[in-house]
Amino acid sequence: MTPHQLRKLFLDFFQSKNHQIIPSASLVPDNDPTTLFITAGMHPLVPYLLGQPHPGGKRLASIQKCVRTTDIDEVGDLTHLTFFEMLGNWSLGDYFKREAILWSWEFLTSPKWLGLDKEKLFVSVFAGDTNAPRDEESAAIWQKIFTSENVSNPEKRIFYYPKSENWWGPAGNTGPCGPDTEIFYYTGKASPFAAGFSDEPAADNSDFIEIWNNVFMQYNKNSDGSYTKLKQHNVDTGLGLERMVGILNWIKGKTNSSDLFLSPLFSPTIKVIENITSQKYQEGNFNQDSTKNNNSRSIRIVADHLRSGVFIVGDGVFPSNKERGYVLRRLIRRSARELYKLGLSIEQLDGAVTQILQSIVNNEQYQLQYPEIAKQADQIIDIIVAEITKFSKTLHKGLVQAEKIQNFTGQEAFDLYQTYGFPLEMTREIAEEKGQSINLDTFKAEFAKHQEKSRQESAGKYKGGLADHSETATKYHTATHLLHTALRKFLGDHIHQEGSNITAARLRFDFSHQSALSESEIEQIENWVNEQIDLDWPVTQATMPKTEALKGGALAFFKEKYPDIVSVYTIGQNDQIISQELCGGPHVKHTGEIGHIQLIKQKNIGSGVRRLYLKLADS
Ligand code: SER
Repeated sequence: MTPHQLRKLFLDFFQSKNHQIIPSASLVPDNDPTTLFITAGMHPLVPYLLGQPHPGGKRLASIQKCVRTTDIDEVGDLTHLTFFEMLGNWSLGDYFKREAILWSWEFLTSPKWLGLDKEKLFVSVFAGDTNAPRDEESAAIWQKIFTSENVSNPEKRIFYYPKSENWWGPAGNTGPCGPDTEIFYYTGKASPFAAGFSDEPAADNSDFIEIWNNVFMQYNKNSDGSYTKLKQHNVDTGLGLERMVGILNWIKGKTNSSDLFLSPLFSPTIKVIENITSQKYQEGNFNQDSTKNNNSRSIRIVADHLRSGVFIVGDGVFPSNKERGYVLRRLIRRSARELYKLGLSIEQLDGAVTQILQSIVNNEQYQLQYPEIAKQADQIIDIIVAEITKFSKTLHKGLVQAEKIQNFTGQEAFDLYQTYGFPLEMTREIAEEKGQSINLDTFKAEFAKHQEKSRQESAGKYKGGLADHSETATKYHTATHLLHTALRKFLGDHIHQEGSNITAARLRFDFSHQSALSESEIEQIENWVNEQIDLDWPVTQATMPKTEALKGGALAFFKEKYPDIVSVYTIGQNDQIISQELCGGPHVKHTGEIGHIQLIKQKNIGSGVRRLYLKLADS
């Protein structure tokens, strides 16, 4: 069965149970500052689990793109992925435990659907604690199913575990959550009922593979750590696409093992990596400790990380030093290092990564479900390869230095970071591979010293004002703010200023955006800025605490470089505020002083950053 066939089967099944199919949300959470990425299918549904009516009704099903990077160090084994697709069905205050469990069973075992061997299925339920009772209800439903379906040893198929195993959520720090019941497929050879058999679903390296989780979201976790009952009973289920395809292909004899990297989601990519590196991928079973074969581990890391990179960039994230951008950067850099470990030279990295990325964006299994990836394929490849190019030299220099280190200390890790920009986590990984660990306190102390020094330097720079206070430079400064507002107004709020540079002859403005501006966009932006100039808005300055400025919506860049008390420039007046930015100035007093502007050139400078050149019309 192909992954796409499984997606379709799952959705067809729940459609037949009157579920509305909803599209995958973006990987970037909408209005949720507490998490960087969507980590589960329920995540975009939180408001509806809390009671808001969903336009699709009370029964929903979807295939949701997810990214989880908490276990990034584990990726490379046979079960961890950073990007994955979750098949899920939801009840928003509609059906509850009975229907959810019965439908999971039907979908998994009915010959009309997946037709799994019932004898191989085992389940776990919540054991109960001070927050919520033991889930006898789910256990009774399972017991009844096993008995009525004549499955052997029904009572030995139900395991009870505490919150650490059988409780799901909330997706952030607070929110909907509840006990869950997990379904496992037994992949081992020995009889799980034989005397002396000691493996069980929750054990490490178990032969039981979790395939589906049914969460009964009936609680809300509050910020003080307490749990209260939600006003509606919800169901949230999650079945991992990659894992299920791995098992299905193995049991149907299509593959020799349950290795999920053998599925068509990965196989074209693995093939490309094998060709480029002349290394052979060794498949394994889920429960095996596959880290023993280092080359295959590296191949899996590259295939996983670059696939995540494709989907993250596809949802509008650029590599950067902050938050999501940093996660992306880390994934790309780790791929580069693994390819290097697989024997590629620094010069080969760009070409190799391009080919690997092509195998992902051209993979029919993604094209069928996520047409947005194919549409942006060239940009996605450009952005990731530009990051590889930038990092290659650092990687090479850092690795050469790191090779020389006998004993990894915090000071040495800091020196690598400071001198070569070599990321701490990579130094840590290298040290760990040599069986050593780095004293992070020393690293942190050195880092703090360095930060304090640069903070003092930049605060000094800030206080001293900008170098050029000439009349022309001043006009350009105000034009910068207008241009910035215009870009956000016409191209979208994702636009962030990445840098600017002013000379007597022009303003150069860098900003995050994926595509070239069309002629009509340029014209719109130019016209709008010139209109604001004609409207002769007042430009005023105020000094205030940084927190207040940011709360009021003032735009800020490189936030950490601003002192606690900042200067804010506002263009406009009363309720007609055209622009508000944290800025040291200088600026004109009225926009009319600028005279008209022209946008004279644009450039793509890589990593999703574009550059615009603006000129004063009368200069
Ligand atoms: N939220 C649960 C999980 O991620 C079920 O969808 O496992």
